[in-house]
Amino acid sequence: MTQKVYIETVGCQMNVLDSELVIGALRRHGYDLTDTPADADVLLFNTCSVREHAEDKTYSALGRVRLLKRDKPDTVIGVLGCMAQKDQEAIRKRAPYVDMIVGTGQLGAVPELVAKVRATREPQLAVSLGRTDGGRNEVEASFISYDPARDPSMRPTPFQAYVRIQIGCDKFCTYCVVPSTRGPEQSRPPEHIWGEVRQLVDQGCKEVTLLGQTVNSYVYTDGDRKTRLSDLISGMHDVPGLERIKFVTNYPKDMTDDLLDAVRELPKVVKYLHVPVQSGCDEVLKRMKRNYTAAYYMEMLARCRELVPNVSVSSDFIVGFCGETEESFAKTMELVRVAAFKNSFIFKYSERGGTKAADRYPDDVPDDVKKRRNNDLLLVQNENSRTDHRNQVGTVVEVLVEGPSRRERSASNQANREEASHVTQLTGRSMADHIVVFDGTARLIGRTVRIAITDASPFTLYGDVLTDEVVGAVSREPTASVAPSRFSLPLV
Ligand code: 5AD
Ligand code: SF4
Repeated sequence: MTQKVYIETVGCQMNVLDSELVIGALRRHGYDLTDTPADADVLLFNTCSVREHAEDKTYSALGRVRLLKRDKPDTVIGVLGCMAQKDQEAIRKRAPYVDMIVGTGQLGAVPELVAKVRATREPQLAVSLGRTDGGRNEVEASFISYDPARDPSMRPTPFQAYVRIQIGCDKFCTYCVVPSTRGPEQSRPPEHIWGEVRQLVDQGCKEVTLLGQTVNSYVYTDGDRKTRLSDLISGMHDVPGLERIKFVTNYPKDMTDDLLDAVRELPKVVKYLHVPVQSGCDEVLKRMKRNYTAAYYMEMLARCRELVPNVSVSSDFIVGFCGETEESFAKTMELVRVAAFKNSFIFKYSERGGTKAADRYPDDVPDDVKKRRNNDLLLVQNENSRTDHRNQVGTVVEVLVEGPSRRERSASNQANREEASHVTQLTGRSMADHIVVFDGTARLIGRTVRIAITDASPFTLYGDVLTDEVVGAVSREPTASVAPSRFSLPLV
């Protein structure tokens, strides 16, 4: 009988991609995916350590499957990813029934480790040596060999895929665990990336999202030849069948003009930049070790908008970081007001063991103050999002249709929805990353259609599919564009 694997993923797009790769590898070893834990022979938890809340989620999920293991002792339980890398001891203590702990750089070994658990019933531990000594080569070797034929069934949609172009991070923001859980920054050779993109397009993929913790720091040096992110994108732009290229997440100090020129000039590149600022207060930014001031960020933002007209920009914020006073927070509020981001992801500071901030600065902002600041910032952002979305009304946007809208997905008329001719509510994204909802038939899914925007809420645009005949009747000039919407998972 085929063995079944169940996987739960917490965290960023990098983790979603890792899970896709792990499942791809297990399928090649004869496993099938199940979404019912009780049916699974192998239960995997791909984890995130960025905030305590993410870790709590994993521990409660592990608590739930403990009973399954009691009823079916042969079940293999594995903890993968960032928590596995960072907290082996704590996991073993809190969930001694876990059979496998596999760090971010060792995920390619999951099938082998599952087989070992089965054969020996001994727990298996595979984590990176760390950032020093063998760390760099170990991670490099593991992710290159771990660049397999992909498993389309795990993708957000069959025509959208993530492509890792870089792993790790060397920035060491003081609040962040990523440099220790994901290791040193390494860029993949461009030929590997171009090959993977061609392979994805051959499988029917139309949109690729290039992933890196600081994706715009991407640079691959081979002798005298240097490939920057702009070169990498240019090198894949003309792959026939590829329609859209996105990249996340950007680091403000590495936003160079050559990249912005490429975003403007290359029609397949999505006109959307996620560039987290984190705070609007210079003292806080300094304690965070972000290496820029609020003024520097605002200049960078102005350059993005000048070089890429109508570009959408979004940001991340941490509120309640160590030593954040009401005055510092007021500066962040002011920055959000004037920056007019399309959308922002706002997080309450969560102290992480092992980071510089945890060592150096007390976590001195009470939780209720963090909560209030989070809400206050969100209110200002939502106002900006509403204005931006309203500005889109009357324009025509190109939407890659992703599938039924959330409302439709939760409706129960499954049979009807799958009928190609049935009119249903669909959703997709514009070239500026706005979420657009409209009525159409399932035949449109996976296609790029033009939508006349007729209405807007702070998070969604609404409109009608245009046939070529009616295009002329509607203004196609976009108005000032910095618009709201959300992608589902922030990238760490
Ligand atoms: N606490 C709260 N938020 C954090 N982030 C990273 N580390 C922490 C932390 N310790 C946020 C940053 C980053 C996003 C992905 O997560 O805003 O950009
Ligand atoms: Fe690196 Fe981003 Fe974490 Fe800073 S916040 S250390 S840039 S992953």
